[in-house]
Amino acid sequence: MSLADLLDDLPIPIIQAPMVGASFDALAVAVSGAGGLGTLAIATLAPGEIGPAIAGVRAQTDAPFGVNLLMAPKAAPTASELDTALARLAPWYQALGAPLPAAPNQFAQDFDAQFAAVVEAGPPMASFTFSILTKAQVAALHAAGTLVVGTATTVAEARAWAAVGADGICAQGFEAGGHRGHFLAEVEASLVGTLALVSTIRAAVDLPVIAAGGIMDGRGVAAALALGASAVQMGTAFLLAEEAVTPAAWRGAVATAGDDATRLTRAFTGRHARGIENHFMREMRAVQDAVPAYPVQNRLTQPLRAAATAAGDPEMLSLWAGQGVGLTRPGSAGEMMRRWWAEAGEAARAVAARTGRGEAE
Ligand SMILES: Cc1cc2nc3c(=O)[nH]c(=O)nc-3n(C[C@H](O)[C@H](O)[C@H](O)COP(=O)(O)O)c2cc1C
Repeated sequence: MSLADLLDDLPIPIIQAPMVGASFDALAVAVSGAGGLGTLAIATLAPGEIGPAIAGVRAQTDAPFGVNLLMAPKAAPTASELDTALARLAPWYQALGAPLPAAPNQFAQDFDAQFAAVVEAGPPMASFTFSILTKAQVAALHAAGTLVVGTATTVAEARAWAAVGADGICAQGFEAGGHRGHFLAEVEASLVGTLALVSTIRAAVDLPVIAAGGIMDGRGVAAALALGASAVQMGTAFLLAEEAVTPAAWRGAVATAGDDATRLTRAFTGRHARGIENHFMREMRAVQDAVPAYPVQNRLTQPLRAAATAAGDPEMLSLWAGQGVGLTRPGSAGEMMRRWWAEAGEAARAVAARTGRGEAE
């Protein structure tokens, strides 16, 4: 089956964004079961955990689902780079009463081994972010029966994914919560809004486009479909879902977020990401360009964020969320999906009534 057919056959063309730290199998299964496409976030799983995790989703639903990997570069920081970075974080660990970790020697899971585990499991769809696969890797996934979606933040990135044989493009606009997926140009040249990005990728590439970034309700869904997207990918809007694993302090920050709550930051992970602004983001802004690149800084702040989560302290936790986060509402994932789809229908009818007015006169 082609990706276009898979998305067209979905009763509700909403893909639940993979969200490391906030989503796992329960949310993916609930979304797929409700007629959308759930995505299992497997970027932090060890290669040996991937097959069982995918089998776990298969055991819970017959509906199609996806998995997602982040393509972290191999990191080899020097001892002095690590010492400097840890010294910069020491006051934050101290403030939480948590011990400063020793310099680690592994910074992320081995991508090649994770990739091999995905090929072996052959899930219906797999999406990739932060870099690009080779043609041979895409062919290996196709041979395993897996459709391939590449994340793009620019038209050039979408064209690059098309050139390696991807089945579809996830167009990640500037509004999106979580990490930026750029991989060809620096971040400043990769900050196109969802509206312009979907339209320009649609015009440039003959593949299904999935719109992601700032879509918080059914009106956003209808808008993206009107732009020519084949489906939408929503992350932030699911953060308060009962089936999400969003920690309590993060949920509280989402539930009380104001109208203009989010900012981009490099301070938590060494890669730009959008989250609700907090004390750590504000105080680290001046030095954020000096912190080691992802995945090193990500690894060095992991224990800090775990300690903040355990303490229920939202000020030192990465509160990833997209623009419009204030529109997020609690509920079960199925209720949310049905509500958004009904809202999308209302929005489409309102637009049809408006555009049809001239014809009727
Ligand atoms: C909490 C959170 C975690 C995320 N983790 C991932 C991830 O593991 N892999 C990925 O490709 N994208 C990840 N994203 C980005 C989403 O795929 C998507 O681009 C984004 O959620 C869309 O914007 P929205 O949050 O405004 O809906 C994450 C987003 C959020 C909010």
